[in-house]
Amino acid sequence: MLQPGVPFFAFRDFPEGINREVEQALVQAAGGNQFILGEEVEAFEQELAKALQTGIAVGVGNGYDALVVALKAAGVGPGDEVIVPANTFIATVNAVVQAGAIPVLAEPDLLTCNLTAVMAAAAITERTKAILPVHLYGQACQMDAFVQLSGEHNLILIEDFAQAHGACYVGKQVGCFGNINATSFYPTKNLGALGDGGAVVTADPELAAFARMYRNYGQEQKYHNRIIGINSRLDTLQAAVLRVKLRHLPQLNQERQRLAQLYLEELQGIADLALPVTAPGSTHVYHIFHIRTRHRDTLQVWLAEQGIQTAVHYPVPVHLQEAYTYLGYRRGSFPVAEELADTSLSLPLFPGMTAAEQQAVISSIHTFFRHHG
Ligand SMILES: Cc1ncc(COP(=O)(O)O)c(C=O)c1O
Repeated sequence: MLQPGVPFFAFRDFPEGINREVEQALVQAAGGNQFILGEEVEAFEQELAKALQTGIAVGVGNGYDALVVALKAAGVGPGDEVIVPANTFIATVNAVVQAGAIPVLAEPDLLTCNLTAVMAAAAITERTKAILPVHLYGQACQMDAFVQLSGEHNLILIEDFAQAHGACYVGKQVGCFGNINATSFYPTKNLGALGDGGAVVTADPELAAFARMYRNYGQEQKYHNRIIGINSRLDTLQAAVLRVKLRHLPQLNQERQRLAQLYLEELQGIADLALPVTAPGSTHVYHIFHIRTRHRDTLQVWLAEQGIQTAVHYPVPVHLQEAYTYLGYRRGSFPVAEELADTSLSLPLFPGMTAAEQQAVISSIHTFFRHHG
């Protein structure tokens, strides 16, 4: 029997009425005739900082720019090495290169898929300037060890929390551990805009002041440039949308966690299927529900035949990307990252996903493994 189609991600009216709230916010913001920065952006920055319980947030154009601005503000530049996980979205690594620095890759943990301080420590050299852990798939990295490691070696700590808005490590939200941290509001993110957006977050007023200038051509005041900056301002209409979505973020994350819990219960103990593991002290907000199996490719094709869309995050680890051959790594350099690339599959999970959609995914996976146990 043909199952109903299940999208990998869809924008639904969840919680009910949010779409109307967003529309109203957009109309109101457009009526304000202030299209660059202004009150909406300032209000969102303040509300984001408050929600994170940290110092200062600076809205920028996207998550990639947020990383670049954070690295620049932290003084990372040519000749510096920055330790990044070998399994991340390419933006994390590209940003290091954009800042003029050298990305030094490190193995993730096979169970949590996150970089650990132990693996980062092994990559430290006398040229290391910063460590850039990524809270991958929505799970907070074990940040106490990173804070300790960077303190011991006098390194800058920068979090990439693009995938983990609202996730915590021992009660403290991601985005609040590093010296300066970066996030994205790409539409499908847990806190997503209706276009590009990003933010830099820091408790250090000097770093925040740099970020504020750098995102706007290096201007301290109009036409007075202290540094050579870029144009990467958070769009005013996106700020209005994000203010609405931020209010609902706890509920959006709870819904993701509820759906994830159901997957965890219903998919346990099936053949070689590995389900997400959350580390002690960390919380997971399931930006992505990530599973692993050596039958990944055939499972993905089977699910597609049932009308179920899935995705692979990420099919090629950073060190095997053509663009990064110059770093000199080769196949075998990061066996865990390679294993993840070969076996990972992301299942549909998004706020507003229906019970019928989720059951279709679950029962199709069970059926598949009856033949591939
Ligand atoms: C971990 C991570 N870092 C950075 C980015 C870059 O964000 P953006 O697409 O807003 O530039 C993304 C997502 O897109 C991401 O998932």
